[in-house]
Amino acid sequence: MPQWVEGLTPSELSDEWISAIAKLFLAETGEIYNPAAIRALPIPIWRGNLLLIDGDKPSDLAGLLWCMPYSETRARVVAFAIHEIHQSKGLGTQAWDIFCDTAREAGHCEIQLEVRKSNERAIAFYKERGLEIIGKIEGYYSNGVGYVMRGQL
Ligand SMILES: CC(C)(COP(=O)(O)OP(=O)(O)OC[C@H]1O[C@@H](n2cnc3c(N)ncnc32)[C@H](O)[C@@H]1OP(=O)(O)O)[C@@H](O)C(=O)NCCC(=O)NCCS
Repeated sequence: MPQWVEGLTPSELSDEWISAIAKLFLAETGEIYNPAAIRALPIPIWRGNLLLIDGDKPSDLAGLLWCMPYSETRARVVAFAIHEIHQSKGLGTQAWDIFCDTAREAGHCEIQLEVRKSNERAIAFYKERGLEIIGKIEGYYSNGVGYVMRGQL
């Protein structure tokens, strides 16, 4: 079973890791991110920066949860994806719980994220964890509308 480990900040990741992350995003969310955009994401080193790995090579990457402090009160989920073969085994919940504990300890009391409107499974996952749709965003995703979701920690 793969394990969640703390990741480096994206700017410190090697080209091989960035490419494995881009591949995971494309496979699981359908979004194309260029390597420079991934590397520029300001995700700090904390327990809201988690990689799911099954070994120590970039090809062993099985999932990722990238979150960042957004304001003093709010933490933001920037990316969350688990390889299809590892979904629905409780691994997403594991990472979510680690992140929520960490964000609470850091003094945050709210979580916010963006999700594609058509991504019913992820929306259900977030609703189950207390988040609500608070707004709609046009043009955020390459094809389709997005929702902003927010919840209390
Ligand atoms: C959304 C996502 C991150 C959730 O991760 P996950 O590992 O599949 O989620 P979990 O397995 O923890 O939980 C999913 C459901 O499976 C159930 N589950 C938990 N443990 C389980 C287990 N051992 N076996 C089967 N099902 C289980 C949970 O009850 C949960 O249902 P709930 O939401 O009603 O509580 C993942 O499905 C994913 O990467 N999807 C594609 C990318 C994506 O949409 N990302 C979000 C972009 S905003």
